[in-house]
Amino acid sequence: MKAAVLEAIDAPLRVEELELDEPKSGEVRIRIVACGVCHSDYSYMKGILRMPLPAVPGHEAGGVVEAVGPGVQGFAPGDHVIGVLTPNCGVCDMCRENKPFLCIKMMATMGNGTMLDGTTRLHRGGTHVHHLCGIAAFAEHAVVPAGSLVKIEKDVPLETVCLIGCGVTTGVGAVLNTAQVKPDTTVAVLGCGGVGLSIVQGARIAGARTIIAVDPVAAKRELAQTLGATHAIDPAAGDVAKAVKKITGLGVHYAFEAIGRVDTIALCYAMLRPTGLAVAVGVAPPADEVRLRAGGLLQQKALIGSAYGSAVPSRDIPLYVDLYRRGELKLDQMITHRIALDQVNDAFETMVHGQGARSVIVFG
Ligand code: APR
Ligand code: ZN
Ligand code: ZN
Repeated sequence: MKAAVLEAIDAPLRVEELELDEPKSGEVRIRIVACGVCHSDYSYMKGILRMPLPAVPGHEAGGVVEAVGPGVQGFAPGDHVIGVLTPNCGVCDMCRENKPFLCIKMMATMGNGTMLDGTTRLHRGGTHVHHLCGIAAFAEHAVVPAGSLVKIEKDVPLETVCLIGCGVTTGVGAVLNTAQVKPDTTVAVLGCGGVGLSIVQGARIAGARTIIAVDPVAAKRELAQTLGATHAIDPAAGDVAKAVKKITGLGVHYAFEAIGRVDTIALCYAMLRPTGLAVAVGVAPPADEVRLRAGGLLQQKALIGSAYGSAVPSRDIPLYVDLYRRGELKLDQMITHRIALDQVNDAFETMVHGQGARSVIVFG
């Protein structure tokens, strides 16, 4: 089968033929129908996030079940599924606390790029090829831990709802689960890519009265305003925290960072009103340090991270599919490019240059 392979940090992806093993115990083989191109794929390509190489990226996937391995329950050939970032092992300490978004077994799929048993199903000749997030969906087919899939109804297009696999669940979940944004509050969103636009939509769904979108790219600010933002700020135009306070008076109740930089995380904290909550959604380089003014603590301002939108996928993914079906979650509008696997490197160029919101690879 054809797959896009990351051979080395800073190298473009190369589309080539790989061998894919049959699913083992607790695994499912799917045909990938579509896969969104996410900034985290790019972070692995640039070495900001690390995993063993060679590897197949791609983790925002929609597909159709082809085969199930021994012991798999709840999936059958023909089922429509969305890939999720947590393997949901069900037995680790975090899963038992109903926090599968921080499943301890995620280290296997994210850090080691393997299935839960520590081995790979992808090969090229005698070489093992790793699976990003246990999904590896920049490929025609994938073998995935069953816990990393959620079955959905067949009436929604996989080419669109695949976005729910990462960006949408990360962004909407940060609003509804992590921050639990209350109606009639004020929200700022820094960065309006796939994740930030999902945060904007989550804030609208939560009933926020003021939603301020911050992005240097005019087209992104405009898109954010069609998806629910009530105001937009160009960070190149001056002091963002000041501009936010000009709109809100004391500052915002909630500020979300969806870029992945420590300076913009600190900026979120700076634009809060007393008792406000800053939420770091973007993935900053893990060793970077966030510097905050101690005075903010006296005002009871808080800063929290959000991991995969604090998602319980079996509960949240069907909910987001339903919000899409009802027209409340506008996903088609977030997809600016639909491409073939061979054009995957162009999608990263588009992303780096800030053009368009989400590119989706559509297979066959
Ligand atoms: N202020 C505001 N927005 C900015 C700034 C800035 N200083 N610098 C860049 N941006 C905007 C870009 O213009 C772009 O629209 O941030 C957006 C980032 O969007 P994408 O590159 O599409 O990234 P996305 O997939 O949305 O992910 C955002 O979340 O999951 C993590 O790893 C991911 O850290 C990344 C973040
Ligand atoms: Zn992602
Ligand atoms: Zn677990």
